[in-house]
Amino acid sequence: MRYGFGCDHAGFEFKTELLEELVSAGHDVVDMGADSAERTDFPIYANKVAEAVSEGRLDRGVLVCGTGLGMALAAGRFPDVRAVTVGDCFSARMSRRHNDANVLCLGARVIGAGSAVEILRAWMAEDFEGGRYAERLNMMKGGYKGVHR
Ligand code: RB5
Repeated sequence: MRYGFGCDHAGFEFKTELLEELVSAGHDVVDMGADSAERTDFPIYANKVAEAVSEGRLDRGVLVCGTGLGMALAAGRFPDVRAVTVGDCFSARMSRRHNDANVLCLGARVIGAGSAVEILRAWMAEDFEGGRYAERLNMMKGGYKGVHR
């Protein structure tokens, strides 16, 4: 698969390990920065990765900031991007199986690098189950109007 990776200054310390994990799992990875731990702004990297996923130039993304929250908020604004902030392996697996998450957001000030690698591994390993979960995703398309039932 084609993965995009992005981080801000707070997520930079996880970058090398996560890139290595993606590559050793056999994926093509596009590193979209940041390139140092110098202070920067997370939406720059969330926007780059999410835009590429939204436009189909990449299949999935991994984003790391201090909490993983800002990255998910920014990335989730793009059409067809399903960005989730995850801090445990169970949620990582379920976000793939039930939510078809295509952008994984991690918080480098919340979890350790070892946990981040385990979470990424768990996330990469799972497939979307489709069926009723696909119907629920469809219910979220086109805004909130007309989907109450
Ligand atoms: C940067 O200080 C921090 O706000 C950022 O990394 C992230 O946690 C935002 O959600």
